[in-house]
Amino acid sequence: MNDVSDISQVSNEEPLEILKHPDPRLRERAKPVRRVNRNLRRLIERMAKTMYEADGIGLAGPQVGVMERLFVVDIGEGLKEFINPEILEASEEQVELWEGCLSIPGLRGLVPRPSRVRVTALDRHGRRFWVDADGWLARVIQHEYDHLEGVLFLDRALRVVEVPPESRLRVVFFGTSPFAGTVLERMLEREVTPLLVVTQPDRPRGRGQAPAPTPVKRLALEHELDVAAPTRLRDAAFVERLKALEPDVIVTAAYGRILPEDVLAVPKRAAVNVHASLLPRWRGAAPIQRALMAGDERTGVTILHMSAELDAGDIILQKEAPIEPDDDFGSLHEKLAELGAEALLEALRLIAKGEAPRRPQDAEGVTLAPPLRPEEEWIDWTRPAVEVRNHIRALTPWPGARCLHGAELWKIARTELAAAGEVRGGEPGEIVAVRPERGFAVACGQGALWVTELQPAGRRRMRASDFLNGHRLEPGERLSSGAPGDEDA
Ligand code: CO
Repeated sequence: MNDVSDISQVSNEEPLEILKHPDPRLRERAKPVRRVNRNLRRLIERMAKTMYEADGIGLAGPQVGVMERLFVVDIGEGLKEFINPEILEASEEQVELWEGCLSIPGLRGLVPRPSRVRVTALDRHGRRFWVDADGWLARVIQHEYDHLEGVLFLDRALRVVEVPPESRLRVVFFGTSPFAGTVLERMLEREVTPLLVVTQPDRPRGRGQAPAPTPVKRLALEHELDVAAPTRLRDAAFVERLKALEPDVIVTAAYGRILPEDVLAVPKRAAVNVHASLLPRWRGAAPIQRALMAGDERTGVTILHMSAELDAGDIILQKEAPIEPDDDFGSLHEKLAELGAEALLEALRLIAKGEAPRRPQDAEGVTLAPPLRPEEEWIDWTRPAVEVRNHIRALTPWPGARCLHGAELWKIARTELAAAGEVRGGEPGEIVAVRPERGFAVACGQGALWVTELQPAGRRRMRASDFLNGHRLEPGERLSSGAPGDEDA
């Protein structure tokens, strides 16, 4: 199709068909545009529409069967057309970047190109303009100019790789906490970019209690993703918005609310959850804390299909991780978030390839991981030392394991089990030994714990040895539990 007027016969509504490699027309040299007129302007509009609908940033005439020297570009700075372009100058300096092409879906190439070019062309009104382009604009202009010469990025690429199939899934992400933030961050690094990120509404946070966005919302906004924070998931407008996105997959990670059935029914392929335990152990909202409290020595992550019953759906895959004796909620949470992201990306690849397994959970071995109750934030010194230590690990650094020293609120952050016979006697909660270089030992129901890190009232978390430097503590002094709400006194 060498005459632009042919194209104008076609309805203005439809986008054009993009020719795919190895169509021979992509290898022909295009001819100069003879006339810049209304037909050409209509063609430019259709090419732009075609490019936008395909999520492209550039489209050249030959890619839609128009063997004329023109292309359109929009790298996010508005539409720009180049008619009869000429590259006047190209920098000596080259850069290597990964690029793709709407005519070569599924592949990407590492292509060296001059980092800057000087270009002239006509605009849609036939006016000549000049551009000094660098960055992505320079790259796109050269890529599109190549199309006019019958050259594809494959001809110039140092390396060609397949685009990971999971990056082509249409995904909606539901998440709230820092765990979810890590998962979303890893998805974005692997170019699995959600069409929409759903998170909880802004909540009062911190000392000022000003409404603050969730970690996930902050991350999503940094990456210029669309964000929704509905107060009601059953809201018809919200469900309609989801449906309109036609997602393949819904991913949830520490979202903090249960998805209703009509939301779970929206995605074409799957609604999956990233759960921080080896299901069926620790179903519920606090799997990491409950695993630590129970003294588990191994845990992991599960990617599962969501079902009406909480955390009971079929498993796609699981990954194990050891719980080290020094792990606390902070360190284990971080480990499992990374592992969860890795497992999720593997599962998404399986889903993209139509190969995701579905393994029902064992009926045996189900345990529940309910959210922490406020009274659980107090240390119960009457329990055996091992259990007290595990309880403290599960609460550190957040929300913190509390006790009272007189009327002062202390949070105990790190402890060591006292060796048998190292310290003796004492009622539960009684300080039975003080060693300035190590910390202080507290008697428990059975055995004793050395407190090696703590956060005294109104101060930062510190080593017990530093605390003892400026604070006198005597054997015989007592630590006790308060009642929920005492911390506000
Ligand atoms: Co291209």
